[in-house]
Amino acid sequence: MSDKIILAIESSCDDTSAAVICGNKILSNIAASQAIHNDYGGVVPELASRAHQQNLIPVVEKSVSQAKIQQKDISAIGFTRGPGLLGSLLVGTSFAKSLSMSLNVPLIEVNHLQAHILAHFIADANPVPPKFPFLCLTVSGGHTMIVLVRDYFDMEIIGKTIDDAAGEAFDKIGKIFNLDYPAGPIVDKLAAKGNPDAFSFNKPKMAGYDYSFSGIKTSVLYFIQKELRKNPDFIKENLEDLCASVQKSIVEILMDKLEKSATELQIDEIAIAGGVSANSELRSAMKKNEKQRNWKIYIPKFEYTTDNAAMIAMVAQLKYERGEFSDLSVSATARYDLEESFK
Ligand code: KG4
Ligand code: ZN
Repeated sequence: MSDKIILAIESSCDDTSAAVICGNKILSNIAASQAIHNDYGGVVPELASRAHQQNLIPVVEKSVSQAKIQQKDISAIGFTRGPGLLGSLLVGTSFAKSLSMSLNVPLIEVNHLQAHILAHFIADANPVPPKFPFLCLTVSGGHTMIVLVRDYFDMEIIGKTIDDAAGEAFDKIGKIFNLDYPAGPIVDKLAAKGNPDAFSFNKPKMAGYDYSFSGIKTSVLYFIQKELRKNPDFIKENLEDLCASVQKSIVEILMDKLEKSATELQIDEIAIAGGVSANSELRSAMKKNEKQRNWKIYIPKFEYTTDNAAMIAMVAQLKYERGEFSDLSVSATARYDLEESFK
């Protein structure tokens, strides 16, 4: 691996992040998350881009100083081209372009989804990195997919959600329970004290490896509306059990397809990526399969699972080695398929 020093920027959603990588070692990984969205129950795109504009320069400065490098040491600028919120992506893209121009170094566009997956190859992400080919369950607020990873630049999506992402399901169901945004981590915490078998919700019957999460959301909503008519304090009195039951259902849906694909494709190297991989129930389900199914599992260090620039820097480093640079005319792309980035 090349030992170039690369600065990367991530601004696809509501986290502004900058990181410096040398080889595959992260020298700094700074993120500013945007608390402003909490009051709105979700990310407000206009507020997100404005916050990126405010956060970006201090975040980049901090990442350079914490990495103990100087601007002249930087060999390239990596940035998230997509997918994500267009306004947010534009802030990072324009900044990355101007920086590459002013430092006179190459610009490298990165697909955010590829970055979630290749975060596993950051030096301190795992004790040992996954071996090709492996399956990567990529689960975040925006995406849920099973990816067959044959190589760094050879990946195939074998299953994906046809509606909501798993993180979105956690967040939307949490909103029904009057929890703050993002509800995923709160549901996880409350679930630890609840009974996962207290309630059961309809699970989708989908063929193949595709997912659907809108059914469980509707099923929870109707159930809660019905119970609230009988007892206005139903949520308050049952919150921990509700969270544990919802979490169990979502994790079962995720694991069913992952187990099915691993068995049918005969792959036992299994990784998870994206914000939802922080979920404790998902982690324990993976660990259970380590014993029961003889899987070798890879769960990256927490700071590399949620949106972060370190993972963008990792892909930028690999692209630098391949000489894959972007033109200054490159533009941000809200819809940017994973497979499209290998063409
Ligand atoms: O990867 P990420 O930081 O951003 C996106 O690219 O979407 O993922 C954020 C998502 C949110 O939906 C959040 O609720 C969920 O990950 N999440 C969790 C947990 N931590 C974060 N969901 C369930 N349990 C958690 N512990
Ligand atoms: Zn993400």
